[in-house]
Amino acid sequence: MTTILVTGGTGTIGRQVVPLLQAAGGKVRVLSRHAHDRGDGVEYLAVDLLDGDGLAAAVDGVDVVLHLAGGPKGDDIGTRNLVQAAEQAGVGHLVHISVTAVDQLPLTYFKSKLGAEQAVRGSTVPSTVLRVAQLHDFAWNTARAMAKLPVLPTPGGVRFQPVDSRDVAQRLAELTLGEPQGLVPDLVGPKVYSLSELARDYLKATGKRRLSLPIRVPGKAGKVYRAGGNLSLTGATVGTHTWEDFVAAQV
Ligand SMILES: NC(=O)c1ccc[n+]([C@@H]2O[C@H](COP(=O)([O-])OP(=O)(O)OC[C@H]3O[C@@H](n4cnc5c(N)ncnc54)[C@H](OP(=O)(O)O)[C@@H]3O)[C@@H](O)[C@H]2O)c1
Repeated sequence: MTTILVTGGTGTIGRQVVPLLQAAGGKVRVLSRHAHDRGDGVEYLAVDLLDGDGLAAAVDGVDVVLHLAGGPKGDDIGTRNLVQAAEQAGVGHLVHISVTAVDQLPLTYFKSKLGAEQAVRGSTVPSTVLRVAQLHDFAWNTARAMAKLPVLPTPGGVRFQPVDSRDVAQRLAELTLGEPQGLVPDLVGPKVYSLSELARDYLKATGKRRLSLPIRVPGKAGKVYRAGGNLSLTGATVGTHTWEDFVAAQV
């Protein structure tokens, strides 16, 4: 039986991919900072990737690591710790989730995600890296945060290809159960939306009204967004679940 360690297996994507791996016959271990006991056949380990305590034991005897753990910062450091432990334990395959346009946007989050991706791709452990667009959940939560303000800031020219977490989980399960492939085509949602369209859909679905305040994203990042440099318009794998269906399910 293949032993699979899923880092971040308690998160939005992790919670959906773990049952798929179990259904395919994998023995699943989940690593996150908080311990759990859910009686679901999964072994939950409390390890903080940023300090690495307990990491050697977490990767011991593991065939495949699916690395999803991440936060607003420090993913480069946590991933380097994980890679080092995986190399020492002789892990056979490391699958890593990255983010689309990770090498285009000069923002702190993307720089840290790029460092994480480089640590994986530079490792001696055979790897697969999937860059994923922003989740529907992320778009919804962003719109909700924007709508907390009395006027809705609408950054001109910012567009996304939001993708459903079920499509992401499905693709990650497929990659985790397959052979190492290096960098695979990006995974994006079926349609491109401006941030204003996503926010408008949120307002409509929740029955809220806000005046909009057009703003301009400054600097290099603003230029990349306005040029669509964050979008994957050719060669990407496209998810099947739509933003409209996601929105309908929220209300
Ligand atoms: N959400 C998106 O739109 C999106 C798009 C593309 C790529 N991604 C990437 O996909 C991955 C998963 O995203 P998600 O939305 O499922 O995230 P999420 O819901 O925020 O879950 C994050 C997971 O990582 C764990 N974690 C966070 N910091 C950790 C640390 N220092 N050590 C160990 N575990 C840690 C969390 O558990 P604890 O809090 O218990 O530690 C949780 O299980 C992330 O790497 C993210 O960058 C996300």
